[in-house]
Order: sequence, then C-alpha cells, then structure tokens
Amino acid sequence: MFSKPIAKLRSSPIQLMAERTRVALREGRSVVDMTLGEPDFPTPQHVGEAAIRAIVTGETRYTPVNGSVRLREAIARKFQRDNAIPCTPADITVGCGGKQVIYQAFLATLEPGDEVLIPAPYWASYADIASMHGGVLKSLATSPDAGYALQPQTLETAITARTKWLVLNSPSNPSGTAYTAAQLSAFAEVIRASRHQNFLVLVDDIYEHIVFDGAPFATLAEVAPDLRQRILTVNGVSKAYSMTGWRVGYGCGPRALIDAMTKIQMQINSHTSSVSQAAAAAALEGPQDEVRNRCQVFQHRRDLLLRRFDAIPQLHTPRPGGAFYLFPDVRAFLGRTSPNGRVIGDDMALASYLLDEGVAVVPGSGFGMPGFIRLSYATSDDRLHLAADRLATALQRLS
Ligand SMILES: Cc1ncc(COP(=O)(O)O)c(C=O)c1O
Repeated sequence: MFSKPIAKLRSSPIQLMAERTRVALREGRSVVDMTLGEPDFPTPQHVGEAAIRAIVTGETRYTPVNGSVRLREAIARKFQRDNAIPCTPADITVGCGGKQVIYQAFLATLEPGDEVLIPAPYWASYADIASMHGGVLKSLATSPDAGYALQPQTLETAITARTKWLVLNSPSNPSGTAYTAAQLSAFAEVIRASRHQNFLVLVDDIYEHIVFDGAPFATLAEVAPDLRQRILTVNGVSKAYSMTGWRVGYGCGPRALIDAMTKIQMQINSHTSSVSQAAAAAALEGPQDEVRNRCQVFQHRRDLLLRRFDAIPQLHTPRPGGAFYLFPDVRAFLGRTSPNGRVIGDDMALASYLLDEGVAVVPGSGFGMPGFIRLSYATSDDRLHLAADRLATALQRLS
C-alpha cells in the first residue's frame, strides 16, 4: 500500500520516548522528562498581546503564501540586524515551523540517490525528510573529544558528484556544538575548493539565541557572502521566543529556491496562521532582553548539570556551547547488567532502564550516534538536581 520511501519511514525516537514518558506519567510514576526540545518558558507577554490584537482587528484572512509582508519585512530586518545578511522580503519564505521550510527545500531539490551530508549527531528529521524524497543520508562522523565538531577534512572527503546538500546546524540539536566564525570559514574554504560545485548548504540557525559564555553567534552566509547563492538559512521563533506551538519558521536563500519552496507550500497548507504570523513579527521586532535573560538561565542550567554529571564516574559529557541539550557518552555503561538482571546492550536499552529509574532521555541512535544519550535541560533547577540524582544512582547500580 505504501510507497517505498514512506514504508521505510521510522517513528521519531524522540516522539517514541516522549510517548513512553507520557504513559509512565499517566500511570502516576515519578519521571523527570528530559526528552523534549522545547523551552519551558511561556511565550513573552507582548507577543501574546500582538496575537490577540491581530484577532480583534481582523488579521484573520489568507496571507501571501510566502508569509505576510509585515512578517517578511521583520525577518529581513532581523537578518540584517543579527547576521549582517542583506535580504529583501522576496528572498524569504515563511513556513509552518522551520521543519516545513526544510521539508520544502528537500522536496524542491532532491532526486533519488542524491546525497545529503549531515554531521552526526544530527536532528533526526533532516535524515527522515531527506529519505522521504529519495535522498541518501551520508552521515559525517564527529567525536566527543572534539566537542562533536565537524572537521574540515571529514567534509572534504565526503563531498562527491552526488552531493546535493550539506546540512550545518549550530548550535546543534542534540550536541549543543556551536561553531565559531573561524570554523565556519574553514568549511567555506572546503566548499569553495571542492571539485564538486553543484550542492547547496542548509544552515539551520534555530538555536541562534541560545549561545553561551558570551561567544558571538556566527552563520555561514555571514562569514562567506560569496557562497550566499548556495545557502539556505533556516530559522524560526520556536526556540528563541518559546513559541513552539505557534508554528512559524522561515528561510532566506536564493530567489529561485525560495520561489520553488513557496510553490510547494501553496499546495500543502498555503501558509501558517495569520495570527501566528502577527505574533512572530511582534517577537522579532519587539524587545529582545527576555531572549538574552533566558539564554542566561539555560547557561546556568548547563553549568549546574555539567557539574553534577562530571561527578558521575565514567560518564563523559562534552561541554556544549549552546542550545539546551547535553549529549553524554554512555558507552562505558553498555554491556552491564541492571539490578533486575537485564543486560543493557545498547543506548535504547539504557534509555528504557533510565525511564524505569525515573529519568526520561532519548537514545543517541535516534540522532545517528549510538552509544550516547540526549537530555534536554529545559526544566527547573530542582528537576535537574532530581534527574542528576536519579541518573547517578541508576548508573551506579549497573554491574
Ligand atoms: C535543529 C532543529 N531544527 C529545526 C527545528 C524545527 O523547529 P520548528 O519546526 O518548531 O521551527 C527543530 C525543532 O526541534 C530543531 O531542533
């Protein structure tokens, strides 16, 4: 009944673990849920008020498919202000979340067998969306010792005549790896020098505003303006403004690509809600101090959790530069046995065991990196301490 690409589509391991966690919580078990990639803060008040105003004043009709002019103007100003990327509303398309923008970019360009290069660990949706459209995932290895940063030589050797896309996501979900301008320049150098010049670069900046230790955020289209005609920069309001449910994401890139993506969107959902678009414009144009304060809170939580994790023997946790995830190396614990005699053979078994012990995490294999786990620290200090207590006890009890 199903087409080949759809038949092999997996359920997202994040959603599977989140669902198992919901079931456990419904059963009344005490679980610290660290599975979801969603800030725990409310949407800023002025954003909600802008949405209410949009409803009351009748901004409730169809907008242009690529997004309202007001929102695209706000996005163009944002790219100029934050990223020094000059663009006009015509270079931008707005989708129902960054996810839809990525979906349309791949649908617009991928032919069966085209390679999509993605540094691992990666957000699983890149691989799944690419494979839905016939793309072939080429996972680029990184190491925890290098903070999961892609090395230019790895990129260089991975590019072939079949390469259609390179995906760069910084700060990264799930590792939190944040590239500096110098690291991005090194990638740009590899791209320029490659024998193969027919591929595009998807730059996913959705965690742009969650960068720690005062490090400046950098993006490829800023450090390599000569490559702009090959770069699709994707961003959105979900993570920066705690607006995951509003479903607004956007992309800025070469006009022909943006137009093709918009044509596709016209036949899917036309556009995201007009009210959400008004809210997103208010978020981008309004005061940004709450965004900075929330970044400080995330940094504090990262430090808290890292201190606790570093005290757990044999748990190796690279220090992330941004986002709100830790991605510890748990390979030292695999092959051990739980107190009830279950062998913890892989990261999936470990995630199941940890859920039973009251901490819900996502196995790294869901991000193309078995032997690791991802924990989202978008929760309160008390919950983080509880999670660290439970994790330490659970790992200690493995023999
Ligand atoms: C790396 C990355 N990119 C894009 C998205 C998509 O976010 P949204 O569709 O809410 O804009 C997510 C959401 O988890 C993400 O982690």
